[in-house]
Amino acid sequence: MASDTKMKGGENFDLKDILNQGKQLGFEQRISYFSGWMGGLIERGEALYKREVCSTAGREVTVYDRYADEKRPMLMFGSNNYLGLTSHPYVQEKVHEAVRTFGAGVGGPPLLNGYTSLHREVEERLSAFKKKEETVIFQSGYGSNIGILGALASENDTILYDAFSHASVYDGLRMSRAAATKFAHNDTAMLEELLQAAAEGPGDTFVAVEGVYSMDGDVAPLDEMTALCDTYGAILVLDDAHGTGVMGPTGRGTPQHFGVAEDVDVNMGTFSKAFGVVGAAVSTSKPIASYLRFFARSYMFSSSIPPAVLAVVLAGLDVLENEPELHQRLRDTIDYTVAQLRPLGFDVHPTSAVIPLLVPRSMNIRDAAFTFHKMGIFINSIEYPAVPVDQQRFRISLMATHTKEDIDRLVACVEEVWATHAGADDQLPMTPASVTAPEAVA
Ligand SMILES: Cc1ncc(COP(=O)(O)O)c(C=O)c1O
Repeated sequence: MASDTKMKGGENFDLKDILNQGKQLGFEQRISYFSGWMGGLIERGEALYKREVCSTAGREVTVYDRYADEKRPMLMFGSNNYLGLTSHPYVQEKVHEAVRTFGAGVGGPPLLNGYTSLHREVEERLSAFKKKEETVIFQSGYGSNIGILGALASENDTILYDAFSHASVYDGLRMSRAAATKFAHNDTAMLEELLQAAAEGPGDTFVAVEGVYSMDGDVAPLDEMTALCDTYGAILVLDDAHGTGVMGPTGRGTPQHFGVAEDVDVNMGTFSKAFGVVGAAVSTSKPIASYLRFFARSYMFSSSIPPAVLAVVLAGLDVLENEPELHQRLRDTIDYTVAQLRPLGFDVHPTSAVIPLLVPRSMNIRDAAFTFHKMGIFINSIEYPAVPVDQQRFRISLMATHTKEDIDRLVACVEEVWATHAGADDQLPMTPASVTAPEAVA
């Protein structure tokens, strides 16, 4: 049986279940219980949610510090703007151009009035980028996952999904009404057993995985997974939100990293990470794309993303093509950061732009987060109940625009936070791989 740690994790939790804890709380009870729990948490400085950024989301941001009642600069290590495109002059110019030509928005869904020549251009460019026949642009990554799974799989079918899947995949499973079974994180032996069993059952089998896992920064072994799907006639649905623009020799994503771009049946990438905006694109075969346009409810029943966003994607693709050094800088920054963290005892790997630092049990993650905040380091803390208590972590997100000095400062602050907040017995940090079986908390 797969270890419990590999069966529980990723970016998914249901606050309603956590709040109810098996009881059937009424509406008023839920609201008042939550208000009581949350009330004052942010104001008292016990939780750093909703920090107000007053500048572009670059390597350095200006933040309104409500605790000190002042605006101050902070180094940003919490943004998925991996390539730093949001402040790239060429990208900004292209946005202005698109708004001048196409206006601010489209005011309707894609199948009616919301499909412009910009939408077509982005679809064509991304099809070539992802090496698939056709691309469908969705309004968000969340919406694309519920749309894809809801549309493609049906009652008779089976979806096998990685235990660390994003919340949107879990919600897509419900929309599909298919039988859904999870396999332990990245466990290809368990996946094969399930594929064998599913092949004997009715209907079709889908396998849903992520290219780069958002909480751990590790990758799915897509070379093995595409081969398994081929052997058992399953359809591979990939969420490459954190791989697009980051993975592969030229940033085309995790399938490029493994040399299997043409073998992934449905390849979703978001615009919300390396492109720094919102929206998503699903690249696949022509028949599947055409089917999705009518059967993916989140596509059909929602307004199209606006021209300014599409301009960012087009300009971002130009930048990736014309300035390959930007993608290389991101890869170098990842390597450099990992090389600085490893001597401190962190078992981290130069895989993706997401680097998790698991906090020891003795560390109060909220206090530690507040110390980072006071030091001018903007970093996301991932706390229980988002993850089980012994998988609480800080998640470093790196950008191509970070300098060596930025990373040196981050690493010095990490060292200081650990020295101040970790107990004497567990100064050595933990990584996802070294965490032992968690107690059933979340
Ligand atoms: C793996 C993964 N899939 C999907 C999403 C949702 O993407 P979006 O923010 O574009 O809705 C996210 C964002 O957190 C993610 O990490």
